[in-house]
Amino acid sequence: MNAPLPPWYDDLPGSLAEAWALLVRGAADRRHPFHTLQVATIGLDGAPTVRTVVLRGVEPARRVVRFHTDRRSRKARELAADPRIALHAYHPAAKIQLRLSGRAALHRDDPVAAAAWAATRPFSRACYRVALPPGTVAESPYAALAEAGAGDEAGREAFLAVTVSVERLEFLFLAARGHRRALFDWSGGALAASWLVP
Ligand SMILES: Cc1cc2nc3c(=O)[nH]c(=O)nc-3n(C[C@H](O)[C@H](O)[C@H](O)COP(=O)(O)O)c2cc1C
Repeated sequence: MNAPLPPWYDDLPGSLAEAWALLVRGAADRRHPFHTLQVATIGLDGAPTVRTVVLRGVEPARRVVRFHTDRRSRKARELAADPRIALHAYHPAAKIQLRLSGRAALHRDDPVAAAAWAATRPFSRACYRVALPPGTVAESPYAALAEAGAGDEAGREAFLAVTVSVERLEFLFLAARGHRRALFDWSGGALAASWLVP
């Protein structure tokens, strides 16, 4: 027997609301499949690059999602050169894929960065206390140990909060009765919502 269809199956605004609700849950719940996202940027040589990050914040009303990284990282350099960014997530149990794209803003010394750093737990702060920039070729894996006894604020200099203003959100729901694919596009100012052939 087919699984019961969700209430938003044939409903564009409902599908969008479900997408944001899942992202909000993902940011809050470490065990949720959307707690991590794949982030794609444009490499300095023009080739695509992609990696996993933890989803730290979602503001549906402003269409903003946030993650944190090291300002010395490759992705930070790439985003400084070209803020275009794409995010991907898949929820296997819900059978929902989200593809988001937009523009990134980099926050080092502003209130966004300060609030994000204040909410960052000691375990995560330690990642930013590494003296060598991420991606540096190291003679030993122990070169990446956080500097001991450096104090909790020592990583603040390397900390970067990245906010993404979402301009497009693509929603794909896999169902035996027929997949549903929808596009929500704010790039023209107002929201343009449409079904797409899956
Ligand atoms: C589950 C998981 C979560 C991760 N979360 C983050 C994160 O929140 N921020 C981050 O900068 N890197 C995170 N990483 C590491 C990145 O995937 C990547 O390896 C690293 O940031 C270097 O990327 P870059 O060289 O493209 O900048 C995570 C990796 C995994 C596997």
